[in-house]
Order: sequence, then structure tokens, then C-alpha cells
Amino acid sequence: MKLNLFYALLTVTLFIACGRKTGEVITSGAKKDPMIEKLISGMTLDEKLGQMTLFTTDWESTGPTIRSGFENDIRSGRCGALFNSHTVDFTTRLQRIAVEESRLKIPLLFGYDVIHGYKTMFPIPLAEACSWDLEAIEKSAYIMSKEAAASGLHWTFAPMVDISREPRWGRVMEGAGEDTYLGSRIAEARVKGIQGKGFENADRLVACVKHFAAYGAPTAGRDYNSVDISERVFRETYLPTYEAAVKAGAKTVMTSFNDYNGVPASGNRYLLTDILRKEFGFNGFVVTDYTSINEMVNHGVVENETDAGILALNAGVDMDMQGGIYQEKIKVGLKDGRIRLEQIDESVRSILKIKKELGLFENPYRFSDKAREASTIMTPEHLMASRDIARKSVVLLKNDGVLPLSPSVKKILVTGPLADDKNNLIGAWSGSGEGRHCISLYEGLRQHVRSANISFEQLKGAEIEGTDMSQFSAVVQKAKECDVIILAIGEHKDMSGEAAARAMIRIPGVQENLLKALKATGKPIITVVMNGRPLVLTEVDNNSSAVLEAWWLGTQAGNALADIIYGDYNPSAKLAMSFPRHEGQIPVYYNYKSTGRPFDPNSKWNTKYIDMPNSPLYPFGYGLSYSTFDCSRPEVSQSVFTENESITISVDVTNSGKYDGEQVVQLYIRDLVASVTRPVKELKAFKKLMIRKGQTKRVEFVLTKKEFSFLNQTLKRTTEPGKFDVFVGFDSDTTNKVAVTLK
Ligand code: NOJ
Repeated sequence: MKLNLFYALLTVTLFIACGRKTGEVITSGAKKDPMIEKLISGMTLDEKLGQMTLFTTDWESTGPTIRSGFENDIRSGRCGALFNSHTVDFTTRLQRIAVEESRLKIPLLFGYDVIHGYKTMFPIPLAEACSWDLEAIEKSAYIMSKEAAASGLHWTFAPMVDISREPRWGRVMEGAGEDTYLGSRIAEARVKGIQGKGFENADRLVACVKHFAAYGAPTAGRDYNSVDISERVFRETYLPTYEAAVKAGAKTVMTSFNDYNGVPASGNRYLLTDILRKEFGFNGFVVTDYTSINEMVNHGVVENETDAGILALNAGVDMDMQGGIYQEKIKVGLKDGRIRLEQIDESVRSILKIKKELGLFENPYRFSDKAREASTIMTPEHLMASRDIARKSVVLLKNDGVLPLSPSVKKILVTGPLADDKNNLIGAWSGSGEGRHCISLYEGLRQHVRSANISFEQLKGAEIEGTDMSQFSAVVQKAKECDVIILAIGEHKDMSGEAAARAMIRIPGVQENLLKALKATGKPIITVVMNGRPLVLTEVDNNSSAVLEAWWLGTQAGNALADIIYGDYNPSAKLAMSFPRHEGQIPVYYNYKSTGRPFDPNSKWNTKYIDMPNSPLYPFGYGLSYSTFDCSRPEVSQSVFTENESITISVDVTNSGKYDGEQVVQLYIRDLVASVTRPVKELKAFKKLMIRKGQTKRVEFVLTKKEFSFLNQTLKRTTEPGKFDVFVGFDSDTTNKVAVTLK
């Protein structure tokens, strides 16, 4: 009797230690499907755990492979999903094992990191975010899904919606930058593009929102590092993008590697159940990131992998990526009562539901269609869409008038380590994309210029990294014979992405030295920067006549850049992340909080550096055009309004320059007095529109109580009466404002 009591107490203690209230099963709340229920009732425990197991194939791993022999696992029903397996031939072969050789014939789910293109590569997501063009972003997500779906894939580990204020963190290239509002709209567009209205035509993938949560806030910008932010910052800045993606219908969510509030995400019931399931109403399945269940042992929150698996299951993880913990280690939890079979069934249910929605039970090969694969990949239409969004992603940071390049410029030197590069231009996380399909800058320029009177010289001049300056004198000599220099410098593609944090975010190697050597010739220099994160471009700005932030633009990079350089496309992109003047300013972002001692250049005792301005080199929302635009003072439909009323803010935007062009009209608000400190500015709306030269367009924004609401001291969304400034302009530095009062 005493012993029984002891075991009962031990069980309760372990439940609590594993972060779960005794007996409570996490359900998605979705309706049960008779066919799936029947299947579950006939499954062995191993087969159930198999459905909850995702392994990488050995073919192309994005991390350490800790398990081989996946074919046997498929055969024995111990693995229900695979990633890094694509192409019709390969997926067909593996699917055949599942549906012909396994006992229950449950089809496999094939996942892959289709991040910014499958074969037709699009600009990296951070670049696309700078387009502020939701339609184009949705289209690019659709095309990448369509190509991947034609190659046997069902599921992409995208979109990555991690907001980040950390340019040192290599993964900023995969996200939408620093702003929660812009990031949320982009998250929705990407989910819509990936999943569309469903899988009827087998041309869409299942989306996986990642990395839940707050992965974009690693301490010191180091990948995989701990996250330590307040619940307020978490909820105001980092959480809304995940919510937007889930509400847009994303069917799966990936956990992050980091801890939040002391608990690793893959064992964090607060995140995975209380927020994701209960607050957001998510009813798909949760997959871990790569071996992140196992890594909870290293986090030091569990002693061994069995406890890690039990913690994960009870927190709300349905599928274990690559760790093999669910498959191998958690069964004991059923015996000692730390986990319940109903919980396992619930996870299996949500996974099978998605396989059913994909139509795989009816036809397991419907995504693996040889003819469709051949006719879908890299079509001219897809390449055109890639070129279109690539042009929209290039941010013109500086221009003294050299751009657009006049056809009267006859001799052009195209130099720098990235001038004729292809492999780097497809960017990090390019999966199955191939550099050989890419148009280099040099090729793009040559293809663009048909005149025999214009000649291009091409010399590399330097490597991306290293100290070798031996080619400088030849390049300088050539530059002296030319009229204009186009210099392509930046990062190697592996310098951003996963596990690619940099403490010093300058242009690496001797590339800046090359720029300075060329500057000494006195020739105009158009510097094209190719990179995956905001860099410190202070020296680049100082020494160039024009600067184009070109990111990694994908397959059509060279064509898109030639279109811009020759003025066939007028740059319209705006930075989705601030660019610091110096690493010492990091984090530097536009929507910082009001302080008791706001910046004042004429006084010492306020928040500032004594050796550097507070402001970034280029602020969020910034980007030039070849044209000039004027914005009238905002007018408001009523300057005093109640919570139940909406107000309209209107401006007239005039293209006062010489070129037709698109402009992104941005609306920010500032809450002047609230019960908690508020940011000095918050983006609340934007519109991108084409305005012909000489034309004026009226732009209207309707604001409701939502835009004026915030999280109060108890973190409840609320509005408070008071005064607000509403700013409308072309970047986050705008001072063009009107005052309104909420009664
Ligand atoms: C680890 C990355 O963090 C994640 O984003 C990716 O989807 C997985 N590896 C699978 O490749």
C-alpha cells in the first residue's frame, strides 16, 4: 500500500517535472476522421511512433546524420516521413517501399527546405522582404512550391518568420527583417503562396512555420544561443509573425533550437500548447528542429534522452526530426505512466490528417509525376517571375547621379570577386538550386547591352576572403582606361544562413581595399553589394558614387541588376532591416522605446554614444529611386475619434523626378502617452504604388482601434485615450506627421 502511494506520488512528480498536468491530453480539437481512426486502431505502438518520426535521407544532409538504414525503417513502419529526399525518381522509389512493403501501407510524407526556390531560385527571403511587394512574394512562394511539388515533395520547411534585430545572426537572410508588422504581412503572403487553397492540383506544398519561437533573438547574435527577452518584448515583437502565419492557415510548425524563459522550445509546453494550440488555435502538427529533442540533454533540463522525449511529447511536439527519440526512447514512459497512449494517438492523428489532405492515401505518387516535373521546372514564366522580384528586391542606397547608366558610357570595367560569380548568387539555403543556371552580373550586363560601341572589361581583382592584393595594380590600370567601374563585392553565400554568425559584419577580406584603390583613379564607382545580412557599409558608402544592395538575387540576378543599372527598372525596394554604422551599435532598429533621456545632440546626459551617432547608416524602410517623390502633410478625416470609429489618413504623393517609378508609402504611429513605454515609431500600414513622372496620387489609410492598441501592464491588448502622432513618408526617419486624439 505504502509502495503504491510512493509510486503514485512519483508519477505525479514526474508529470510535473515533464511540464504537463497529470492526465491532460493536448488535442488539436480537429474533427475525427473515420478512416484515420480505423487506421490508428489497427496500429502497433511502433507504427504509431514511426508516424511521429522524421529522418533525413543520407543523400543530402543539412546537419549531422545520426542514423542510417532508413529504408528498413520505412519497411517496418518505423519512419513515416523523410526530408532531403526529392526528385520524382527518388521519392517514387521510397514511396513504393512504404506503400508496397510496409504492413499498413501508409504513404510517406516528403519534406525539404524549399526556402527561396526549388530549381528556379528567387532572391533570399530578406531581399524579397525589401520589395514590400506582397503579391510578388506570394507568387515566388507559389512557384517554388509548384516546382518542388512536381518533383515529389509534399512539405517545405518554410516560411521562416523569425523577426530579428540581429545582423550578426546569419539566419536573418531567411526572414523578413526587423519589423513585426511587415514580417506578419509577409508571413501571410508566404503561407498563401506555399499552400494556396489546397492540394487538389498537387501544385502546392504544406507550409511549416519556423522556428517557434523567438529564434531570431539569440544572445550576442550567435546561432543556437540562448534567448533571454522579456515576455513583453516577446509578445510585442517576436510572437505576432507566427500567429499571422498560423492564422493564414499554415498546417505545420517547427520548434526552435533556443530556450525561452529557461525552457528549450522543444520541451516548452507554454509555447507549444498554451500559446500555439490554445491562443492561436493551431490544429496542425508540430515538428521539432533537427535533433532538438536530444539537445535538451545539453541544455541541462533533462538527464537523458528518454526524459527529453517525454518532455517534448507532453509539451506538444508531434514529430521528432532526425533525433530518433520518439522511435527509440519514449516507450518506457507509457509503462511508468509519464506519457499516455491518447497523446501519441493525437499526434499520429494530426500527421495522418495532413497525409490525407494531400491525397496520398488515394494516390501516394500524385506528387511524383515525371512529365509534370519536366514541364514545370524552370519554365520561362518562372524565370521571368524570378527576374521581376529580383529587380524589386534591390535597394538603391546611394546615388550621386551616375545611375541609371547612360548609353553614352562606352567603356565599363566590371570587377570584384562577385562580378562574374554564379554559385554565390543563388544564396544560402538554396537547396537543390544550381549556380550553373544563374546569370552573373557580367553576363547580365553583356546580354543587356546590344550596342557594339559599349565594351566591358572584366577582372576579378580580389577574392572574397583572404589578404591577396596582387591583382590590384592590373585592375587599377584597367580602371584608368574605362569610364565607369562596376564593382561587385560582398559575402560568400556560406557566410550567412544557419551556423553562420559573424562578429564583424564588414565586407570581408581586402574588398574594401580594392574599392579604395579604385577610388584613387577618380572614376565613378557603382558598388553592387551581394550579401545575406545587413553589413557595415560605412566605407563602401564613403568611397562609392552609387551603392546597390543586391543581396543574393537568385537565378536571374545578373539580368535583374542589368535592368536596374541601365534604368529599365527604377529601384523601389526599401530596407527591411536597419544597416548599422558600426557593429558596436547592434542591436540598432527603428522602433526603439522612448526613454527618460531621449537623444539630444547638445547635451551630454542622455542616451547616446560619445563616439558615434545613435542612428544607423541606413534606416529601416529606406531606399532610393531614380526619381524623386514628395509627400504632402497627412490629412486626417477627423482628428478626434472614439474607439468605435475609424479614421482615414490621406496624403498626396507626387513623382517630381524624371522617371516613372514605384514608391512605398509607409505609415507609422507614435503613442505619446500610455501606461507603459511605447516605441518612438511603429509601422502600421504601407502601400506600394506606381506613380508616373509628374503624376500625383492620393494615398489613403484607414486606421481603427487595432492600430492604436498595445499590451498593457498585464500584457492584455488594450487602447487608452490620448494623443498619437501619425507619420507618413518614405522611410522610418520621416518627420511628416499629423496629430490625432483617441477619446
Ligand atoms: C535545421 C534548421 O534550423 C531548420 O530551419 C531546417 O528546416 C532543418 N535543419 C532541416 O534542414
